[in-house]
Amino acid sequence: MSDAETLTLALSKGRILDDTLPLLADCGIRLTEDPERSRKLIFETTVPGVRVIVVRATDVPPFVEHGGADLGVAGKDVLMEYGSNGLYEPLDLNIARCRMMVAGHPGANERPGRLRVATKFVNIARRYYAEQGRQVELIKLYGSMELAPLVGLGDVIVDLVDTGNTLRANGLEPLEHITDISSRLVVNKASMKMKHRRIKALLGQLAEAVEARRT
Ligand code: ATP
Ligand code: PRP
Repeated sequence: MSDAETLTLALSKGRILDDTLPLLADCGIRLTEDPERSRKLIFETTVPGVRVIVVRATDVPPFVEHGGADLGVAGKDVLMEYGSNGLYEPLDLNIARCRMMVAGHPGANERPGRLRVATKFVNIARRYYAEQGRQVELIKLYGSMELAPLVGLGDVIVDLVDTGNTLRANGLEPLEHITDISSRLVVNKASMKMKHRRIKALLGQLAEAVEARRT
């Protein structure tokens, strides 16, 4: 099969793979090998001309925008942080659902003056506080955000919350709801034109699979 007919889908290990593979299976697409048990980065599927590449969650948008993949699955958090103008985002897959929140010790967000905010989502936090008209100092972290207020690294964090277990386990509370998050299918703009028939067919099948799971 020529490159013009191949569809490459970018996924990341963990939640995105776990939640996307059953949706693909509903569309009749199965990986021929388990990516969680392999060091390989490119995986063939049971459908000729459809392959999956495995990248870091935050690398899905650049891979898709710049043509390393035709399609990808990324959290809305990752897309908002990246700034997804260069991508089409045609389908909410309704998977990996959680909320983007401000969290901290009770009342920590009411502290007067410039709030110190530790987060890996600096662009989302910057936009949120600009809309609130609140002056903040942003501290960029790459993980374990819940630790920051416990050791005095910032007053609050901006992070994802699902069950709230991680916050509770560390004596913190959700304080402000920023936005709901789920994972989205993203599509390279040129691929959408050049491979329109194949992508449209896959989009239709995925939309049906998502809808079937809602009911
Ligand atoms: P990496 O470690 O490669 O930077 P990551 O840790 O952000 O990636 P995952 O933890 O697999 O990757 O999360 C992937 C996506 O799942 C996130 O972008 C977010 O949209 C969603 N997500 C993150 N945490 C949760 C959660 N606790 N519950 C539900 N969905 C979540
Ligand atoms: C995410 C997020 C929180 C946690 C929230 O971390 O950063 O720490 O989930 O989920 P909860 O409300 O259900 O406890 P994740 O599990 O992805 O760990 P990581 O950031 O180290 O990948």
